[in-house]
Formats: sequence, C-alpha cells, structure tokens
Amino acid sequence: MASRGHHGPTLQLPAISYDDVQRSVEYAARIIRSGGLVAFPTETVYGLGADATNADAIEAIFSAKERPHSDPLIVHLPSASALATVVASIPPLAYELAERFWPGPLTLILPRASGIPASVSAGGPTVGVRVPRHPVALALLQASGVPIVAPSANRFMHTSPTTAAHVLEDLDGRIDAVLDAGPCEVGVESTVLNLTSDPPCLLRPGGITFEALRDVIANIRLAGSTSDSPSVASQRPALAPGQMERHYAPRTPLIVFDGDGPEALSAILAEAARAIAAGQRVGILVADEEAEAFADMPVTLALLGPRADLAVVSRQLYAALRELDSQDFDLLVAHTFGREGLGLALWDRLRKAAGGTLRTVSSSEGF
Ligand code: TXA
Ligand code: MG
Repeated sequence: MASRGHHGPTLQLPAISYDDVQRSVEYAARIIRSGGLVAFPTETVYGLGADATNADAIEAIFSAKERPHSDPLIVHLPSASALATVVASIPPLAYELAERFWPGPLTLILPRASGIPASVSAGGPTVGVRVPRHPVALALLQASGVPIVAPSANRFMHTSPTTAAHVLEDLDGRIDAVLDAGPCEVGVESTVLNLTSDPPCLLRPGGITFEALRDVIANIRLAGSTSDSPSVASQRPALAPGQMERHYAPRTPLIVFDGDGPEALSAILAEAARAIAAGQRVGILVADEEAEAFADMPVTLALLGPRADLAVVSRQLYAALRELDSQDFDLLVAHTFGREGLGLALWDRLRKAAGGTLRTVSSSEGF
C-alpha cells in the first residue's frame, strides 16, 4: 500500500448502496490504517485522506497533490468527543460551536496536540479540525479508528473536486483509491475559523456563513478586513497560511465581475462582445436569471442556479468551472453573488479562480 511512488491505477470503490458502503468503507479503512491514500466524499468537496498520526502518509499527501508544505492540512474526526486526541487545549467556545455546527462544514483552528505531526500544520503550533457530515466520511472515520487529514483531493492550485470523476482527473495513479458516493451537497469547502486569536477570526469563508457564526461570536473578525462586516471586506490577501491568491483555478483565463445592479451585467456583456469581436470563444458563468441577457450572443452559458438559492449555486460552481475549462474556450467570464450568506464564499472562490482580482463595477445606487 505504498502511496509514495504509487503508479498503478487508482481503485474506484462504489459507496452509494448500503452494501457498497459497508464493503468499500471497510476496504478503504484498511488502506488508511496501512499508510495509504484514499479520496473520499465529504459534504463540501472530496478530500484526500491519510492517517493523521502517520508522518509518512502525510508526506505522501503533499507529494500526490504537489502541494507545498507551507499549506496546512485539516484533521477530520468522527465526533467532537475525539477532539482531545488532536487538540492540546479546548476552549468552551469550541464545544459551543461543535454543538451547533458539527457535523458540518466548519473547521476550527486550535492548539495542536503532540500526537499530531507538525507537518500537518506547516510546523505551526495550531491544527485545523472538523467533523464532516457526509455519512460515507463518518463511516470511514469510524472504521479507520484514526483521525484523518484531508485536503481537497485536487492537484495543488486546481479547482476542488465535487465528484469522484473530478478526483481521478487530477490524481488517477497517484493515490490508492477513491470512494465514489456521487456529487457533494455543499460544493464549496468548509469555513475556517481561528479560535487561537482574540477575537476569533474567519480565515476562509465556506459552507457555514459568517452571519451564522456572528450569532454565536458577536465580535468575530474577517481576515483581511479591519471591520467585522463582510460588505466592507477589502481585497487584500487573507492572513491564513496557505491562503494563496491564485487557487481553485481553471487553466482558461477567467475574468470575474463584482457588483450588483444592471451595470455589472452590462459590463459582462461588453467584455463578452469585445472578446467575440476579437474572434475569441467565450464561456459565461452566471445566475439563471441572467441567461436572457445573453440570448443574442454566440457564447456558451453555464447557469449556476437562482440568486435566491445560493446553496444551489455553491453546489454547481466547481463542476461548472471544470466543465467549461475542459472545453476549448479562450475566455471565461463570471459574475459574483453578493457577499451575504454563501455569497461571501462564492465571492472568495471566484476571486481566487480569477487569480486574486475582481473587476469591480459600482452601481448607481452606490454598491
Ligand atoms: O471542506 C473542507 O475543508 C475540505 C474537505 C475535504 O474537508 N478540505 C479542504 O482542505 O478544503 P484544504 O487543504 O484544501 O484547505 C485547508 C485550508 C488551508 O489551505 C488553510 O487555508 C486552512 O485550511 N488551514 C488548515 N489548517 C490551518 C491552520 N492550522 N492554521 C490556519 N489555517 C489552516
Ligand atoms: Mg484545497
């Protein structure tokens, strides 16, 4: 089960029917326990799992993903009662958040316990932990009997995978197996919250919203901003280790327009018209309601979902980016979804997919 230098094809383990799940999870757990690498579904994205207590297995994750060691990994647990095995001291707030949001897409940064190798967290004194809510992830954690480190199961800097096919696009032949339970429900990664800073600081927006956390932590801060309001968050780089500005990136050039009101849509139409006039093939990622604005244009549309239901948009974003990126476009153009609720995570991922910059369009109402 040597994952370092693994060159055979990656084993595909179906995990949809009850019988599949039993058999596949038991097999995958054996691979994890013997130091191998198994990609598995979580409610956010597919993760690339390894035994969090095994330094060689952790090293194999970095090589399979071609990920720099400066980018820390998240440790996954079957329940909050296992926290003491990976965390050196647990503040009451961690239990309160765990009670409210676990299992679910929230990662807590806490002081690292000595049983977890320093390479998990780029040599730092902290560790990111979460309890995922996908039944297959929970079954794997239970069957393995060890905490599991799992970065998103993509090559470094590529778009995160929300299906087993996406995992294989990036990692086939580099990992031992992938558990296939179909598409992920949330579609963007977990929210990362640093509880070792005072006040607690949101390092990466994700599946649990800033507003939901602010209900529990009134003075929560947003990394990269001097205010607690996401609407005034600056575009400066976030402060978390591993928070590169270019990330989640398609290979096709992507321009993201930020702003509401008709002005943003006009700017997107103008950019698309310019590219078409220059002979370029253009793909557009927008909300369902924006489709009709492109009716007369020779562009390919990826409709991500209704603006009123950003859970649908989040679920579809990465698959749409991968799909358009696999076709022969010269330019992709996308529109943000505000910064309320899941809009903040979508804003963050679209900005990073565009290499760290947005084209800001102010509306007449003064966005
Ligand atoms: O939803 C998710 O979180 C997925 C699934 C598989 O659980 N995992 C995931 O892992 O997105 P990854 O490795 O792609 O992103 C983890 C990020 C790091 O890049 C870093 O920004 C932050 O979480 N992180 C992890 N440990 C940290 C630490 N000790 N201090 C600060 N940030 C940390
Ligand atoms: Mg990732």
